[in-house]
Amino acid sequence: MGERILEMENITVQFPGVLALDGVHFEAYRGEVNVLLGENGAGKSTIMKVLAGVNTGYTGTVRYKGEEIVCKSIHEQMGRGISIIFQETNLLGNLTVAENIFLGAYCTRKGGGVDWKRMNAGARRLLDSIGSDIPERAPVSSLSVGQAQMVEIAKALRTQADILIMDEPTSALTEKEVEGLFHIIAQLKAAGVAIVYITHRLKEILEIGDRLTVLRDGKSIKSLPVKGLTVDDMVELMVGRDVSEQFPRIPCTPGGAVLEVRGLTRAGVLHEVSFEARAGEIVCFYGLMGAGRTELMRAIFGADKYDGGQVLVDGKPVPARGCRAAKDAGIALLTEDRKRQGLILGDAVGRNIALTNLGGVMNRFGLSAKKEAAVCGALAQSVRVKTPSLRQPVGLLSGGNQQKVVIAKWLNTASRVVIFDEPTRGIDVGAKVEIYKIMNELKRQGKAVVMVSSELVEAIGMCDRMYVMHDGRITAQFDSPEGLTEEAIMKAAVATA
Ligand SMILES: Nc1ncnc2c1ncn2[C@@H]1O[C@H](COP(=O)(O)OP(=O)(O)OP(=O)(O)O)[C@@H](O)[C@H]1O
Ligand SMILES: [Mg+2]
Repeated sequence: MGERILEMENITVQFPGVLALDGVHFEAYRGEVNVLLGENGAGKSTIMKVLAGVNTGYTGTVRYKGEEIVCKSIHEQMGRGISIIFQETNLLGNLTVAENIFLGAYCTRKGGGVDWKRMNAGARRLLDSIGSDIPERAPVSSLSVGQAQMVEIAKALRTQADILIMDEPTSALTEKEVEGLFHIIAQLKAAGVAIVYITHRLKEILEIGDRLTVLRDGKSIKSLPVKGLTVDDMVELMVGRDVSEQFPRIPCTPGGAVLEVRGLTRAGVLHEVSFEARAGEIVCFYGLMGAGRTELMRAIFGADKYDGGQVLVDGKPVPARGCRAAKDAGIALLTEDRKRQGLILGDAVGRNIALTNLGGVMNRFGLSAKKEAAVCGALAQSVRVKTPSLRQPVGLLSGGNQQKVVIAKWLNTASRVVIFDEPTRGIDVGAKVEIYKIMNELKRQGKAVVMVSSELVEAIGMCDRMYVMHDGRITAQFDSPEGLTEEAIMKAAVATA
């Protein structure tokens, strides 16, 4: 067992209307991966933000390297050797990758002024060390979510940390990037760094975790070694009940094609993609990160232009005139990137849900608060959004609960085709099942459901049919979930077939 470097005792955080932490105890040890586990809204990010000096309104004691400290600011905590990789990226889009990595600590030349050469080279070294080929001079706004996450990681590694907090670092990474990250974690462990690791991917915990602390509803439930645990054990510790049916598949009796995509092409991105989704079925798109699945869905939804091909709903061509036309034609897209595309963070939960269908919450005089509360309340409840009220700004919800609001929002439309792009990313096991049940409900209503997923077990577990993409092309099609093997799918995903 490593040396105990941190002891947080009786930590309580009260936000307006939400007791986020209620006397929590947490310890971290050098040279170990200290995992924090809990459902969405359990308080994982909140306690780590206390430690990182972001949430300063807490009570309780924090002992670090044997001394009692007060966590007052990020700057001070970083100086003490405590670094955090935030769950939602906090990068500045207009600046380059290198500028973001060195933010607040630009390299300077002897005579004054910024030493761009040294800074860019330093950024390059950091990125190389984590196996990332992102160009260091690219503006951050041009990066994908996964790439931005890699930049966050590089940034956190810039300063020598004794405690490195990673809040869901892998939720948007490619398999290669995850591998690179685990490699770095092993190196940091060997160097005696205490890693605090938060994830909803339970298998990762078995792979790299040493010690586990479970939070439920802002309280500590248990701390124990990871060794000897199974995924089922962790699920039970986390939700306090048995989640037996992880993939609640229902029978499928598909009708005619609702969505038809013919030869969709976008130079350099999509190559002659054709497929269909029928009424009452769930069609999964599997592929590795960067295979072009998100780009395909964005093109179908009119968010990106395409150079050739056609999209039809119920046999009628959808004019390629942007999202509005696609929405009017009956297409809904739940984006993978809630922060940039899905939500207005400063607006209330209820208003965010209402936005997709304002007609439904209006009366003769305009927006009806009563209607909004009724319609949005029911939708928020159907996906079990954890919020003190519908008036709470979405930005104040936990990451997973923000994702649930995105879903509730799109359930509020009369769409024919509902496209889910990585709907369960960052979502806890219990809530995942809720989302699958919502997909089932849409399927039962005779809608065509399309799901993009990077999790193979989920794709196999929920699909009625599957398409696999690689490099902007469909490389395989499976017309039944029966007999689907991980090998066949992976082969198509890396396109070695
Ligand atoms: N600034 C804030 N103001 C008000 N409430 C907040 C704020 N930050 C967090 N909360 C609430 O505190 C609770 C704990 O949130 P936290 O972000 O710590 O959850 P989490 O365990 O990290 O969940 P997830 O797995 O979804 O990321 C939630 O109910 C959340 O809505
Ligand atoms: Mg969180």
